[in-house]
Parts: sequence; C-alpha cells; structure tokens
Amino acid sequence: MREVTSWRSGVSDPADFPYSAVLAEFQLVGKHFVKKELLALLDEIRSHVAAPSGRAATPGGTDPARLLRDFLDVALDKWNGHYDYRSYLALRLLRLPCAADGPVTDPTADPAGARRDSDRLFLRLVADALAFELAAGAGATDLLPEQRPGPETVAKRYRLGVRAAAPALSRLAPGRAVDDREPAVAAATLHTLTTADLAGDEERELRLSMLPVYVTHDEYLFIRVLQAYECVFAGLADELRGTVAALSAGHASTAAGRLAYAREQLTAAGPLFSLLATMQPESFRTFREYTEGASAIQSRSYKLMESLCRTPDGARLDSAAYRSVPEVRDRLLAGQPSVDAAYRAAVRADRLAGADRARVEQEMREFSAAVLQWRRTHHRLATRMLGSRPGTGYTQRRRRDRPVGPPLPGPLLRHPLTPAAPPTNTGGCPE
Ligand code: HEM
Repeated sequence: MREVTSWRSGVSDPADFPYSAVLAEFQLVGKHFVKKELLALLDEIRSHVAAPSGRAATPGGTDPARLLRDFLDVALDKWNGHYDYRSYLALRLLRLPCAADGPVTDPTADPAGARRDSDRLFLRLVADALAFELAAGAGATDLLPEQRPGPETVAKRYRLGVRAAAPALSRLAPGRAVDDREPAVAAATLHTLTTADLAGDEERELRLSMLPVYVTHDEYLFIRVLQAYECVFAGLADELRGTVAALSAGHASTAAGRLAYAREQLTAAGPLFSLLATMQPESFRTFREYTEGASAIQSRSYKLMESLCRTPDGARLDSAAYRSVPEVRDRLLAGQPSVDAAYRAAVRADRLAGADRARVEQEMREFSAAVLQWRRTHHRLATRMLGSRPGTGYTQRRRRDRPVGPPLPGPLLRHPLTPAAPPTNTGGCPE
C-alpha cells in the first residue's frame, strides 16, 4: 500500500508501477480477500491510466500503460463486478500468441512463428507450475501455504508436467529432451531450459498472471493448467482457421497438415489432465468457494475451436454454452465459416477429390476423435473433483433448479461421408 501511495504521489509513470508490492498483497490473502482500501486506490489509479501510448518498454515489448491497464483490469475484476473465467486466468496478460481472434489465416502463410510462440508460452506455464512445486517442497516460498501436497503427489506432478512439456520442448530445442528418471531434477531442468531465453516482459507477464482467489497451494496448479489449455485451444483455433482457408483455396495437403498438427497438439496436451487429477479434491472445494462467476463455459478459445469444426446447431447456439461467449456467438451469427462447411463446398466445387479428399477426411475423423477423447477425460476429471456436488458456480447460479454435472462427450466433426447423426449431448453445459 505504501509503495502504491508513493508511486501515486510522484510522477506515476506506468513503467515504474510497483507491481511486485501489489502482487505480494494480492497473493498474501487471495484476490477475494484483498483490503478494500487498496482496491479503491488501484481503481482510482486505473481511472487515470492513459490510453496505450504505443510506447514499448523494450523493442517488441509491451506498452507500459497497456500493461498497467490490463493488470488493473484483472486485479480489480471482483471489485468492479467483471470477474469471469478470462479475468480469473488473466488471459489478457498472457497475450495468447495465436491469431485466434484475428482475420482468417492466409493459407500460404507460414504458421511456424505462431506455433513457436504457442510452444514457448505453453512451456513457460507448465515449467512455472513445476517451479512452484519445487520451491514449496524446498520451503523456499510462503506463497499459497494452505494444504501443501505430500511428496508422492509432488513427484507425480513433476513426472506428468515434464511429460506434458516434452513435445513442445523437442520442437523448440531438438535434442534437448529432459531425462525424467529423477523427477525433481527433471522439473528443475525443464524450468532452467524454458527460462533461459525469457525476455523481461515475458517473465513479468507470467508473474502477473498468477492471481489466485485464495491461498490454497493447489490453486496454483489449477490456474496454470487451465492457462496452458487456453494456449492449446487458441492454437487449435488458429490451425482450424488455416484449414478452412486452405480448403477454400484448394490446398488439400495444407488443410490435412494443419488438421494433423492440431490433433497432435490436443493429444500431446493429454498429460495436463493427469497432472490436474493430482489436485487434492478438498483443496479444490476450498478455493472454488471463491471462484463463483468464473467457469470454463466462458472459454472463448474452446468455443472458437469447437465452432470452427462445425457450426453448432440452433439449440446449442441458443444454450448457455454459447450465450456465455457472446463474441463467438456473434461471429457465428455473422456467418463464421467452419471446416465442415469448407470441406463440403470444396467437394461440391470439385476442388477436393481422390486421394486428397480421402486424406482430408481421415484427418477430420482423427481430429474429431481427439476432441471426443478430450471431452471424455474432462468428464472423468470433473466427476472426480466434483463428486456428487452440483456444477461450477456459474451454471449453478444460472440454473439452480436443475442438477448440473460435467460435460458429456458428443460428436464434433460428423463423419464427412455419412449423413449427420442426430446430435447427442454436444456440450459442456447440461441443458
Ligand atoms: C477440477 C477440474 C474440472 C472440473 C470440476 C470441471 C467442471 C466443469 C463443469 C461442471 C463444466 C460445465 C459448465 C459449468 O457448470 O460451468 C465444465 C465445462 C467446461 N470445462 Fe471443465 N472442469 C474441470 C477442468 C477443466 C479443464 C482443465 C479444462 C481445460 C481448459 C476445462 C474446460 C472446460 C470447458 C472448455 C468447458 C465448457 C464446455 C462447453 O461449454 O461445451 N475444464 N467443466
């Protein structure tokens, strides 16, 4: 508080904002319990932060005013009544590197840069989750001190985290695999490798994106795993947009390649679910008391990914699943294209035939199967964590009268050669 008051009474340069002091105050008690005086002061500061100036802290870095506004938006979400899944995960601060929100990808554009950025962010998030476990295990941090897990659980986390990170690591640094025979050493090595070339801005944004609602140890893991999945979904949306563009331009091989890459990403991220399954259910129940209002049903990246596969039918579009992501819903109502529609159009126009067509169909089926697998695993994990309790706060608040369970699996991309199957439950929000 003292640091903030003193910054406020000086030049108030956004580049010198006392982030560390504010972060420490938030993490000491959890976002839900921060003192009103500090929140009011930060709110007052936010009202004076100028619009982004275009000035970069470092070449290619983040504009200081923009960073401060984004941080304050995230920090003050509960205070201002804007708290939701995206602000809980501080997604704006993470700056998901993929072009999921941008214009439709040029089919001839090289996706290598976006893929590399995505891999780097994914690795930072997973490695940071493990670094927190290492620090807590060594007694080197007071952060989130409640309900520390036992050594066996922590060792499992090291193993699963390293496994989840391995494919991205080998793409970024071929030949630099982490030997995971000694889990703690492997986790530490992964952290060293991923932080070696971190720019100052990236390091700071990573730190600022950890604003748990309470002080339970496992919330750190929960936040980082969800953020890592957001990174994956944003990347998948990018690949699917590239697939649509490639199909529309008659580039069958590019389309198949992008679908295959998307499938590999989703499958490779599988160990993240196993990692999160090590979360102690009682810890989850403790901190979720304070997450009401934030639910993954509000994940824009996931819905973008899903809707880029195939345009949802009217009932799903009108369900809470899509009404929770109005920006995505608006795009769909405005005619956002999908892989399914682009495939059909290409076949009708004779742009896709023979072996090319067979390959694209095969990749569509395989991507669809990977999404189905994701949903099944999600369902299992959610059931394990929730038990017989009602669903997450968001849905619970909206539909108190109905039992709420985790999402059930359903088909996503229907088989391109067979007539549409009647939709089963395709969503994460039971209607
Ligand atoms: C503790 C573990 C988890 C539990 C208990 C859980 C529970 C749930 C529940 C109950 C829903 C239904 C919507 C609602 O009631 O708000 C849901 C939806 C969803 N969850 Fe999870 N989940 C967990 C982990 C994850 C993870 C790691 C991800 C990865 C990003 C994820 C992504 C999603 C998505 C995208 C939806 C929305 C699906 C749709 O609207 O079709 N969940 N989850």
